[in-house]
Amino acid sequence: MNNIKNIGVNDHAVDLFEGQYKVPNGMAYNSYLIEDEKCALLDTVDAHFGAEWQAKVEAALAGRACDYLVIHHMEPDHSANIARFLSAHSETTVVTSAQAFKFMEQFFGSTVAPKRQVVKEGDILHLGVHSLQFITAPMVHWPEVLVSYEASTKTLFSADAFGKFGALDVDEPWDDEARRYYIGIVGKFGVQAQALLKKASALDIQRICPLHGPILQNTALTNALAKYTAWASYASEEDGVTVAYTSVYGNTRAVALAVADELRAKGKSVAVFDLARDDMSSAIASSFRYSTLVLATTTYNGSIFPIMHTFIEGLVERNFQQRRVAFIENGTWAPLAAKVMKDLLAPCKNLTLVEPVITVRSSELDGGKAKAQTLAAAL
Ligand code: FEO
Repeated sequence: MNNIKNIGVNDHAVDLFEGQYKVPNGMAYNSYLIEDEKCALLDTVDAHFGAEWQAKVEAALAGRACDYLVIHHMEPDHSANIARFLSAHSETTVVTSAQAFKFMEQFFGSTVAPKRQVVKEGDILHLGVHSLQFITAPMVHWPEVLVSYEASTKTLFSADAFGKFGALDVDEPWDDEARRYYIGIVGKFGVQAQALLKKASALDIQRICPLHGPILQNTALTNALAKYTAWASYASEEDGVTVAYTSVYGNTRAVALAVADELRAKGKSVAVFDLARDDMSSAIASSFRYSTLVLATTTYNGSIFPIMHTFIEGLVERNFQQRRVAFIENGTWAPLAAKVMKDLLAPCKNLTLVEPVITVRSSELDGGKAKAQTLAAAL
């Protein structure tokens, strides 16, 4: 790729990315090297892979000097090896935003990076044939983030944007793990992601090089841009239903699954999640994917089952909006789960609350099958 190499690493040891997201197929931390009249190294990798990464860098440099270390993002999965690299390369000038240098000192001390070049929106770093034009991307996913555009290869180095969970040596579809990554990590900042997309739309981009996941070009690039346009604006990707439930003794589950069966029989795409057992971030991502969400839970301690509470908090935190939402509540003596769920969702914009609310008294013997048919018909 025109003297641009990915010298990143694959992480198959990590169980929880950022301490909370399950990554059964690992994680990739990408780092790129541009060799031209000047040589630029773009970002580092996670702390656990410092030695492996530095060995790859030195092999790629083959003894030549590294003129620049460009830092797009100071989160430690990308920045952890800055001091390590500079201790071996005193010739290198670090290039990043003023705020990133502040963060760098917080992580590594004030004497880090004695040679510095502060860049801001629109600044260009000339390397020879290649150049990097810097574009600010605040909150995608920290405030100091820069992306950069390399004009000769029409490449956008996009930092966290357009990344995904999963190591690069695992072959898996991009959409699901990119969605789970975006919604989980950047989902709250849709306005800021839209601002980045607007800036990107002014560029002729033929390739995106993110800090996680594969390089995107051709149809993969077209698909990724379309997905990001939907995700950043909170639009659903497709007509379909996420059914998310909790159940203590299986009765609420029975009604939730009956609704799912009815919807499938009508030809709907349906994804079902047992929130106590299935991956929460997948359930949240599915809720953003589809146009409709069905929530089913028990009345519990005068409120709702705790895991459902956590799930709804996860939706609200990420600005869940513009969806249809239906409710199934269960309660043996004083069912009020639907009211609690509606109250929790009150901050969400442009939700259409589907009627009727289904109230189950204890078990599906309380007309559960008929109620499921009624709700499925309403959906
Ligand atoms: Fe991949 Fe926000 O760091």
